[in-house]
Amino acid sequence: MGLGGGTARLLFLLTFFTSGIHLILSDTDPGDAAALQSLKRQWQNTPPSWGQSHDPCGAPWEGVTCSNSRITALGLSTMSLKGKLSGDIGGLTELRSLDLSFNTNLTGSLTPRLGDLLKLNILILAGCGFSGSIPDELGNLAELSFLALNSNNFSGGIPPSLGKLSKLYWLDFADNQLTGPIPISKNTTPGLDLLLNAKHLLFDGNQLEGNIPSTLGLVQTLEVLRLDRNALSGKVPINLNNLSSLNELNLAHNKLIGPLPNLTKLDALNYVDLSNNSFFSSEAPDWFSTLPSLTTLVIEHGSLQGTLPSKVFSFPQIQQVLLRNNALNGSFNMGDSISTQLQLVDLQNNQISSVTLTADYTNTLILVGNPVCTALSDTNYCQLQQQSTKPYSTSLANCGKDLPSGNCPMSEIQSIGFDLTNQTYKPPKEFGPYYFIASPYPFPDSSRGNSLSTGVVVGIGTGCGLLVMSLVGVAIYAIRQKKRAEKAIGLSKPFASWAPSGKDSGGVPQLKGARWFSYEELKRCTYNFTESNEIGSGGYGKVY
Ligand SMILES: *[C@@H]1O[C@H](CO)[C@@H](O)[C@H](O)[C@H]1NC(C)=O
Ligand SMILES: *[C@@H]1O[C@H](CO)[C@@H](O)[C@H](O)[C@H]1NC(C)=O
Ligand SMILES: *[C@@H]1O[C@H](CO)[C@@H](O)[C@H](O)[C@H]1NC(C)=O
Ligand SMILES: *[C@@H]1O[C@H](CO)[C@@H](O)[C@H](O)[C@H]1NC(C)=O
Ligand SMILES: *[C@@H]1O[C@H](CO)[C@@H](O)[C@H](O)[C@H]1NC(C)=O
Ligand SMILES: *[C@@H]1O[C@H](CO)[C@@H](O)[C@H](O)[C@H]1NC(C)=O
Ligand SMILES: *[C@@H]1O[C@H](CO)[C@@H](O)[C@H](O)[C@H]1NC(C)=O
Repeated sequence: MGLGGGTARLLFLLTFFTSGIHLILSDTDPGDAAALQSLKRQWQNTPPSWGQSHDPCGAPWEGVTCSNSRITALGLSTMSLKGKLSGDIGGLTELRSLDLSFNTNLTGSLTPRLGDLLKLNILILAGCGFSGSIPDELGNLAELSFLALNSNNFSGGIPPSLGKLSKLYWLDFADNQLTGPIPISKNTTPGLDLLLNAKHLLFDGNQLEGNIPSTLGLVQTLEVLRLDRNALSGKVPINLNNLSSLNELNLAHNKLIGPLPNLTKLDALNYVDLSNNSFFSSEAPDWFSTLPSLTTLVIEHGSLQGTLPSKVFSFPQIQQVLLRNNALNGSFNMGDSISTQLQLVDLQNNQISSVTLTADYTNTLILVGNPVCTALSDTNYCQLQQQSTKPYSTSLANCGKDLPSGNCPMSEIQSIGFDLTNQTYKPPKEFGPYYFIASPYPFPDSSRGNSLSTGVVVGIGTGCGLLVMSLVGVAIYAIRQKKRAEKAIGLSKPFASWAPSGKDSGGVPQLKGARWFSYEELKRCTYNFTESNEIGSGGYGKVY
């Protein structure tokens, strides 16, 4: 007996609908699917799930986000991907976010077809092995707000076309081999002075030349300006003094001349580094006594002379005053209202002839190499103390509940990593800006061949992979600079640079620096990165 017509029709309809639903739910736009399949063929070490279906959106491929069958985000940070980024990427025209960061084996030049991704909001290619010039076509990405190409091998100039990216607030080209001037607008040519929403301009560690353009003073939104470790010359333009939101100014290791810049109006400034330039000799400028938010003042290998005003030691947040290798002379007095935050005063190799010490200050003061040390030679101040190597370690006591250890789902690693690289996670204010550097995530799946080199898992034997977070309190940038010089990506010394507080080490506190956080630490301490949690809160109180 056959099925009644009605039943058969019902079954047919059911089949139709379920397959219909199946189709609707799982079908990836054919163009997008083809583009991604093509990228997959050109990359080694794509996530395991990429082999298991032909449907990136439907039976989802890890790291791929879709909306209405279109691929809208690709997040493949720290996957040990290997290969090139071909023009096929330009086919993913609905892409909002592309993060391929920290895949050092992604090499070759950037395809101009990145300029076809007109909806792109976030582009993060930091810490890869890309080289060649930065394509002009990136200037077409009118929606772009976050562009990080730092720590690659890019060469050539900064394309003026990037001045058209009017929504950009984060621009990081640090640690490449870029040359030429900082482009500014002229007649119909755009330039970076048009980036009126930019908050972070990070160009450190390149070979940029020419002057610091005075029109950068027009970018009133700027919070962090890093031009250190370049070959910039000429005078610092006066109107940098009206960047009233500036938090960090780092112009160290250039060829700047003229008077020390006048920073009196930069009330928000808390980190200043002007080391290793060729400024004219001068007394300590007025702003040494007037910048209330200062945490760190660095002018090493400078041309300061005369006596150092004591006011700088009384700023409520001041932590470090690093003025070695100048010509400060006369008598030195730290004054009688020394900030409780102060950790380190380094005045090595100056001409200080007498010093008034105070019992209130028990942290580090280094006077080695000053005339005053002929009389005080056996005091701590006149001896180079052993650097402590005791690692800093975050107490997890105040963090959330224990998490089961073991393997972490890749998607979680992904989303934490992305929250950090795209700066969605905002640490508490005291931390200041941070940088996120990740190390490769070891997949549990052994089928993924060389995904995990044992050298990667140093130090922390936790079940999950390592995520490295360089949480940078504004006081910490100096170390980052050193770290970066050592090519911090893939850095294999977890905890190496984080400092204990002075009172625990007994000696010279190391500068606070980057530290590694394991996946568990990050997750536990941030409750998946809700706003109110603090990473590193614990034994030492706030970690800066
Ligand atoms: C990059 O490729 C080289 C050579 O195949 C390999 O030795 C190295 O481990 C790879 N690096 C990463 C981070 O995957
Ligand atoms: C960048 O280029 C230099 C040589 O020019 C090379 O030694 C280095 O390994 C390259 N770095 C990356 C990340 O490819
Ligand atoms: C910035 O500084 C320059 C020179 O000091 C001044 O002429 C200009 O009016 C200032 N601009 C703003 C917006 O404050
Ligand atoms: C620094 O700038 C402030 C504000 O523009 C000004 O009042 C002061 O005279 C300047 N100081 C010097 C030494 O030029
Ligand atoms: C800074 O300048 C001093 C003296 O000119 C030099 O010895 C030192 O190597 C420089 N440091 C760096 C990192 O360039
Ligand atoms: C400090 O050095 C300056 C410039 O060399 C000199 O004019 C001044 O007399 C010195 N002051 C003292 C107290 O030695
Ligand atoms: C950054 O990534 C997170 C996690 O994927 C996402 O929720 C957030 O919207 C992204 N931030 C921006 C500015 O797009």
